[in-house]
Amino acid sequence: MADPAVASTHSSGDPGILAAQDRDDVVVGNELVRFRYYTRVVHWLVALTFLICLFTGLAIWTPIFGWMAPLFGGLQVCRWLHPWTGIAFSFFILLQFLHWAGEMKMTAADKRFTQLKNFLAYMRWQYHDDEVGKYNGGQKALFWLSSLAALGVLVTGVVLWWPELFSAPIREASWILHDITFILFTLLIFGHIYLGIAEPGTLRAMISGTVSKAWAKLHHPKWYRDVTGDQRR
Ligand code: HEM
Repeated sequence: MADPAVASTHSSGDPGILAAQDRDDVVVGNELVRFRYYTRVVHWLVALTFLICLFTGLAIWTPIFGWMAPLFGGLQVCRWLHPWTGIAFSFFILLQFLHWAGEMKMTAADKRFTQLKNFLAYMRWQYHDDEVGKYNGGQKALFWLSSLAALGVLVTGVVLWWPELFSAPIREASWILHDITFILFTLLIFGHIYLGIAEPGTLRAMISGTVSKAWAKLHHPKWYRDVTGDQRR
């Protein structure tokens, strides 16, 4: 016979998924709601528009990636799809920025996390800090850096879109900065995608909105204590 606790969390009327429609930071059975519906929709719109910008941009950038153009209907389509999707991406990341900025202030624990030796230990699954809240220092750094990079590609991208409105030095600086920013941005996001997928139990936070209590206690112990009221360490 199926374990009723397991069955209840996987049925279509999953109480965690239902709660995650409009609430987060609450306990539902054996799970915690991490991201409500709005948070997830905005995040996936950011991710989708980022990837369209990346692949159409790579196809325009160099013939090495020219094989990507037919995926979008050819190079001419990429040329207009890229800037317009860039505008959509800027809009969605602005929504994400406004939604999350208040929660992304660096605490002492976050600053400890961003020290190189601690970050490397984390990547080897060897770092634990009981004071890590809903987001760790790396996640907060990702938030601020990705918001800054988005501003960078937007500003330089506008210059490249309407070059006749700008002087030659501004156009040339924008070419270089647009390329440097998108390369660093892509490396950052690929690291983020790797961690989001490789850490067991993390991706579901952005899909169903919920995580297990064990996941929360392991990765975000202070958040776990604040939400559950369970002060045991
Ligand atoms: C397309 C692939 C992507 C995947 C699979 C992915 C996955 C995830 C997951 C699972 C989380 C929740 C992590 C947690 O609960 O702790 C998350 C959060 C977040 N994502 Fe993404 N993401 C993607 C793309 C992006 C892009 C393109 C951006 C920004 C340009 C972005 C920015 C963020 C930020 C700022 C957070 C909150 C901080 C954090 O949890 O790291 N993501 N993402």
